[in-house]
Amino acid sequence: MSIQTSQGAQFARIMSVGGSRGSRVVDNAEMCTMIDSSDEWIQQRTGIKERRWAADGEDAITLGTAAARTAIERAGLQPADIDAVLVSTVSHFMQTPSMAAIIADKLGMPEPAAIDLSAACAGFCYGVGMADSMVRAGSATHVLVLGVEVLSKYTDFTDRSTAFLFGDGAGAVVIGPSDVPAIGPTLWGSDPTQHEVITIDDWREERPHGEGPFIHMEGRQVFKWATTFIAGKAREALDSAGIPPEELDVFIPHQANNRITDSMLRHLKLPASVVVARDIVGMGNSSAASVPLAMEALLDSGDATSGQTALMIGFGAGLVYAGQTVLLP
Ligand code: ACO
Repeated sequence: MSIQTSQGAQFARIMSVGGSRGSRVVDNAEMCTMIDSSDEWIQQRTGIKERRWAADGEDAITLGTAAARTAIERAGLQPADIDAVLVSTVSHFMQTPSMAAIIADKLGMPEPAAIDLSAACAGFCYGVGMADSMVRAGSATHVLVLGVEVLSKYTDFTDRSTAFLFGDGAGAVVIGPSDVPAIGPTLWGSDPTQHEVITIDDWREERPHGEGPFIHMEGRQVFKWATTFIAGKAREALDSAGIPPEELDVFIPHQANNRITDSMLRHLKLPASVVVARDIVGMGNSSAASVPLAMEALLDSGDATSGQTALMIGFGAGLVYAGQTVLLP
């Protein structure tokens, strides 16, 4: 007697995307009342003009629930149709229960698999890779993948090297069966030797005035890694999907820094016709939420359209990375 195994759809696709942004707009002028910096420096070094923070009454759960609700509606599904919820976050305040279980409850999902992933700014692309495998292996038919962050709550406003970077928001996609190939191979990995380059403080440490835990980053080191090693990985994610650069329509890198995006573009030698996500300008770096939020913005504005090919790549604390070429929902 042998054990039966599950068998899923031949292909998976991103069926829909939804986003939710913190409603408090913090421009560089306001930021410079908190840190010793200037609008000119922040724009030149990152491209950021303003960032979105969770306002009073908003948090990771409200933002994540709103983004998920939109994605499920746009997929033409009900919450009960979702078999698994994968939430990528590094800003959940509780070790357990998972944010995935809390959001599933808010949406009235009866009994989905629910799990959080900690892969920082690469987390959304990690989730897409896992959901793609789940749908094709038959362990789920519809998977909700969310990137949710409220890093403003983990920001040390005495640290001018990080305080201006982060934004709060959530982006969600539903991944389900497809008749045609629509998610290319996920290219993922890590450099574990650099695990101390981006950190959030140990929760057990005592801090003055109950502040923190705070995020810390060796910005230059991440910048160098992203513009050398990660650019090559983005190219592999394109090549492994069999899409020549001249057939790529859209490039959605993690929204960490426009200079990193520019450097990747030079490395990838993409044609000028490729639409490039620049969502960081009005959003800041929203870590796991940045790729789906940028995707939603391009589709909503009409700069990108459903069915186009898009190369996504995320990278961040770990250090970890993940990317894939997909058809846009
Ligand atoms: N305003 C003005 N000057 C500043 C500021 C500021 N806010 N911050 C630093 N400076 C100064 C520094 O003191 C330094 O001065 P010096 O040359 O006299 O020593 C100078 O500006 C340059 O500092 P750098 O740290 O080299 O600035 P850089 O150009 O590297 O930009 C940044 C900093 C934007 C953080 C960049 O390094 C970066 O984007 N890194 C990558 C971030 C990233 O991708 N993170 C991954 C995801 S995050 C996650 O996983 C949660």
